Amino acid sequence: MKEKETISKISEVLEGKAKGIVHLRGWIHRKRVQGNIIFFSLRDSTGVIQLAVKKDGVSEKEFKDAEKALIESTITVKGEVKKDERAPGGFEVQVKSFGVIHFSEIFPIGKDQSTEFLLDVRHLWLRSLHLTNIMKARAEIVKDLRLFFDERAFIEVAPPIITTSACEGGSTLFEFDYFGQKAYLTQSGQLYNEAFITALEKIFILAPSFRAEKSRTVKHLTEYWHLEEEAAFFDNEDNMLLQEQMIEFVAQRLAKSPLLRNFNRTAEELKEVKAPFHRLSYDKAIEKLQELGSNVEWGDDFGVEHEGLLTKELHKPLFVHDWPLKAKPFYMEPADDGEHVKNADVLAPQGHGEIIGGSERIWEYDKLVQRMKEQDLNLKDYAWYLDLRKYGSVPHSGFGLGIERFVKWLLNLEHIRDAVPFPRVINRAYP
Ligand code: 4AD
Ligand code: MG
Repeated sequence: MKEKETISKISEVLEGKAKGIVHLRGWIHRKRVQGNIIFFSLRDSTGVIQLAVKKDGVSEKEFKDAEKALIESTITVKGEVKKDERAPGGFEVQVKSFGVIHFSEIFPIGKDQSTEFLLDVRHLWLRSLHLTNIMKARAEIVKDLRLFFDERAFIEVAPPIITTSACEGGSTLFEFDYFGQKAYLTQSGQLYNEAFITALEKIFILAPSFRAEKSRTVKHLTEYWHLEEEAAFFDNEDNMLLQEQMIEFVAQRLAKSPLLRNFNRTAEELKEVKAPFHRLSYDKAIEKLQELGSNVEWGDDFGVEHEGLLTKELHKPLFVHDWPLKAKPFYMEPADDGEHVKNADVLAPQGHGEIIGGSERIWEYDKLVQRMKEQDLNLKDYAWYLDLRKYGSVPHSGFGLGIERFVKWLLNLEHIRDAVPFPRVINRAYP
């Protein structure tokens, strides 16, 4: 495979690093025949470049193959790099040899196809530059999140996906038969995360979570990736400061990334994402919403409309803290007034909605049992979780960040489904 070593990446040619005769390999992205010249755009994992195949520049068989090769055929070419202002990217490769690895059938995706059709052929649409750019940016964001936690000595752990205890309430649970026993796909690794902290103190996970969401909105998936953090001896204020630092860290790095040019999001906008973020208590948020004409009432959760009203004009995230006890799950530490909890949700700017839910946890046994009873939970299902309050319990806090919601905001995408390669929503689990 000596030949492999000499193959250049398209980005190297476009950056002027590969000159003279180059050997490239990839897929036909576009094709245009103009008399005795066939123009291709060739795509590899690093970019797209123009190829010109002239009838008298290659053998007869090679030119026939070039005529025959349809879009998405896999090819390997050798040719001379020429600067060309007219070519997209500023370079053209004048082909001297043209080899076909695979002749593609007629590619089903053309121009102006419906969203539903593109979702049906998502396995093929994944190679579009739009989705390719998103996948690259998502990988960078995820890498930076891991880096953030690694640098602060948080340990990445692995919670189970199959569980028997609900974390976020019964209404969004996917239930299934586990060899005759009722089991669920996890909604959050949190309860397990709490088990790790008595040994590891500061941990994080990056794992799938599942929600049987009946809502069809631009921010709901039924399967999403969840970055969750949990730390011993952290109160809700420590928790919020960590979230702020994490978001700032990722946003500032993304602001410097060349990938950003592919999105409707400027580096200047991201540079504004710096601590301290905005803060509003839930009670104040309700007052503000009512002033703005919303008929939301104290105790209600926020919908897309409320999140939009609160954040449309903002350039950095908003913490909405101290929610009503009755609106939140059993594990959140009640505030001294008995009406609120010590928690915060992070709302992304410009109406992108909630990206983080976090709180201080109830760490005392009796308090936790009381809250579980109030919420009619079956204590038996949570016996192991209650154990954590019997043996070396510790005040602690944690949060969960939805990766796709985070990506949607940072890249300013219209719909959450494009932040994930194979979206799972209420009406779709294919392909
Ligand atoms: O606010 P949630 O439900 O909080 C929890 O699951 C906590 N147990 C997390 C923790 O403290 N460890 O979910 C956390 C985040 C949300 O803020 C949102 O970003 C994302 O998960 N999320 C969803 N993302 C996409 N589609 C859905 N249906 C989502 N539901 C929640
Ligand atoms: Mg939430």
